[in-house]
Formats: sequence, structure tokens, C-alpha cells
Amino acid sequence: MEEIFDRAYIVLEEIKISSPETVEALEQFRIQYLGTKSVLKDLFGAMAQLPSERKKEYGQLMNMLKAAAEKKFEELKVMFETSKPSTKEIPDLTAPGFNMPLGTRHPLSIVKNRIIEIFSRIGFTIAEGPEIEDDWHNFTALNTPQDHPARDMQDTFFLTEDKNYMLRTHTSSVQIRKMESEKPPLRYIFPGRVYRNETISARAHCTFHQVEGLYIDDNVSFADLKQTMLYFAQEMFGKNVQIRFRPSFFPFTEPSAEMDISCFICDQKGCVVCKQSGWVEIGGCGMVDPSVLENCKLDPKKYSGFAFGMGVERITQLKFRVNDLRLYFENDIRLLKQFSSAV
Ligand code: PHE
Repeated sequence: MEEIFDRAYIVLEEIKISSPETVEALEQFRIQYLGTKSVLKDLFGAMAQLPSERKKEYGQLMNMLKAAAEKKFEELKVMFETSKPSTKEIPDLTAPGFNMPLGTRHPLSIVKNRIIEIFSRIGFTIAEGPEIEDDWHNFTALNTPQDHPARDMQDTFFLTEDKNYMLRTHTSSVQIRKMESEKPPLRYIFPGRVYRNETISARAHCTFHQVEGLYIDDNVSFADLKQTMLYFAQEMFGKNVQIRFRPSFFPFTEPSAEMDISCFICDQKGCVVCKQSGWVEIGGCGMVDPSVLENCKLDPKKYSGFAFGMGVERITQLKFRVNDLRLYFENDIRLLKQFSSAV
């Protein structure tokens, strides 16, 4: 007796999963489940073998089966009629193909990839670190202990009340992670997103991107830093570009410098981009402070090195002249599709 029910349930499943894909297959489906000699008719016939107290239940099951088959048939029929299936039509092989528009890269990605490419040619490899940092990697190990006035140089988004966790304010935290975990020679660039608690305007944003560089070995000198920066500037902005270092301060480098490039837009004649000065700033740099090496258990008598950090938005502004920083984070297609990958 249960066999009769089982058979009916199996047929119900069959109806549910069957999906005729052509008009012919749909007709087969109709004959099989709804025609005069259909499977359902057979199943109905089996009712006679059941005791009267199970007949009602079986009847309901039969109604379900019939309704499921009818519903599927009607739906597919409508679908085939409206979509005019072309099973027998030969496609027009001479028709023009569809044009699939290619996406474009975000201008920040174009510039970031270019920076990476330039440095990888002289042996720098990429490393990354977390965007949520702890106090040690973002500040203390970088020679910026609690209450150090230099902490105010960067407005921080703290994540915990004790200020032990924060969104990293610079990619310099990745320097520490690398120096702690590997032995020199270290030659890395660290591209990444950083965060600062700034009011959003055309000239400032609470999130932006940096590419940090670090080179630690024995006998790395300031001259190496200058030459590396000159190479980068000329690859990025043109062979005639010159660089200028201005003395500056960062807690984790000594000496420290701010790096300018000669304005390639006006050839140093003076323009709005360089504010008539002939020079534009692109980042900070310096020799890694010996106490930072010590914090990472590297012997400053044995090793020295340089570090630099530059703003990807800043370089993108110079390259593409989109000055309102907010536009980089709105993902407006009208802006994004204007940039080609060649910079
Ligand atoms: N971390 C510094 C900043 O965000 C930039 C920097 C990096 C300076 C490496 C010196 C060396 O302003």
C-alpha cells in the first residue's frame, strides 16, 4: 500500500525537476503527465487498491500532482510562445557580433601599478600589512611613544577606548612588521590604504593611499636614497625631472626630508599646480632611525637603511589633474572611464 504512495511521490519529484527546453520536449512532457494515457492516469487507477480510509489522502496527493504538472506546462508554454524558441532556425552567421565594452582601471590603481612596476624593476618586492593596526606597529616602534607630540601630526581613528587599536595612519607600520619578521637585506614597497580623521573636502579625505618603500642592508646611505628617488621621479614624470630634498622631521627617520620634484607641467616657469614655485611635493623620506632598527631587534651598528612614503592620490592628481579628492572615492563611471592604463 505504501508503495502506491511512494510511486506517486516519485512522480511528483519527476514533475518538479523536469525542465523541457524545446517545444518538442514540452509536448512530450504533456503526453507523459497530462495526456489520455499519462502516468497520472495510471496512478489515479491505483486508488481502487487502497482501503477507504487512505483514499482521501491519496486523492489530495493526486490533485497536487496534477496541479504541479499543469502549472509547469502552462508556464513553459507561455515562455516558449513569448520567446519564440529558435530550435529550428539557423542563426544568421553574418550578423555583427555584440560589442562587449571593456572596463577601465581606476586612476588610483593605474598610478599605483605604475609605481609598483617602477620599483620592482630595481629589486623591490611588494608586501602588505593589516589596515587595523596596534599601537606598537603604527606608533611606538616607529619611535613615536605615547604622549610624543608627533602623534598629533596625524589624526587617528582609534578603535578601542585604551587607544591600543586604530586604523593605520600610514603604511610605515608595515616597515616594522617586515623588520621584525625578516633578516636584511630587505627591499620592499608597501602599497596600501591609510586613514586619518580629517573633515572630508576637496583637499582632504579620511582615507587615502600610500606607497611606502624600505631598504635595509649593510652600508645603505643617504646617497642611495637620493638616487632611488631620482630614478623613480624620472621614470614616473619624465627624464628631465629633477628632485629636491627639503629638511623635515619624522620620528622614525633621521635625517628626514620632504621630497619635491621639479614641476613637469610648466617646466618650472610657474603654474597653478606648483603654485608658481616650480616645485611640487610628492612624499617624505629619510634614513631609518637607529632606535627603530633596535625596536625591531636589528643591530644599528651592522645595518642601515632608508624609507620613503608617497601619496598615491597626490601623484594621481599630478598625472591626471583631477584635483577634487572626493572624486576618487565616488566611483562615478563618467569620471572613471576617462583614464587609459598608460601613464
Ligand atoms: N609615514 C610618513 C607619513 O605618512 C611618510 C614617511 C614614510 C616619511 C617613510 C619618512 C619615511 O607622512
